Amino acid sequence: RVLSGRPRDLAGRKVVVSAGGTREAIDPVRYIGNRSSGLQGYALARTAAARGAEVTLVAANVALPDPAGATVVRVESTAELREAVLTAAGAADVVVMAAAVADFRPATRSDSKIKKSDGGEPEPIRLATNPDILAELGERRTTPSQVIVGFAAETDDVLANGRAKLARKGCDLLVVNQVGPGLAFGTPDNAATVLVAGGEPVEVPRGPKEDVADAVWDLVAARLG
Ligand code: CTP
Ligand code: CA
Repeated sequence: RVLSGRPRDLAGRKVVVSAGGTREAIDPVRYIGNRSSGLQGYALARTAAARGAEVTLVAANVALPDPAGATVVRVESTAELREAVLTAAGAADVVVMAAAVADFRPATRSDSKIKKSDGGEPEPIRLATNPDILAELGERRTTPSQVIVGFAAETDDVLANGRAKLARKGCDLLVVNQVGPGLAFGTPDNAATVLVAGGEPVEVPRGPKEDVADAVWDLVAARLG
């Protein structure tokens, strides 16, 4: 895709984007993971770079080539993603959490491969709750003007759930994906409603993930002033 013709309205801005999905180890060969492809996060990183930003992309388990003009930090677990994002957030004007973060991890990780015992039932895997990175970012903005952006896939009362999540996480923008056939996971297209703290929601019709990305950067640029 041709990325020319965009405004350079993020020139001199440092942005951090997380992408992909975290994996939580059960033992040396197995993990709990999710289906996030990283396509939306990569589209955000590409378009931000095209609009002049200095981009750090924190990529969790993504099988995509590094986007031109971004510094890529590869991570696997939620703990690693949290460390990389919070470190990069220190000097950032904008942080976008597009990664699908595992809500839970195995409470303990086995150092050796778990074996089938002689026909017996397996031990249950006890889970522990992961830290909420987006909520942490919202709580401890490094500057009052830092812009924090979250993503959410909601069903049922999508707008009410999204509004509640925006408030709970203390973020400026929340991109609510419409979950449906041919949308979201692993597809090049997306459709979204961007909820804005203290403002009216913006609808992005179904189209390439770059369209959602550009709508986010338009709103971010307006907030940065
Ligand atoms: N997120 C995060 N840390 C977590 C979980 C989620 O930073 N431990 C971020 C995601 O990257 C996303 C946003 O929070 O930007 C919303 O994720 P979502 O899974 O929709 O929110 P949850 O608070 O986990 O709520 P739910 O129970 O609906 O999964
Ligand atoms: Ca979640």
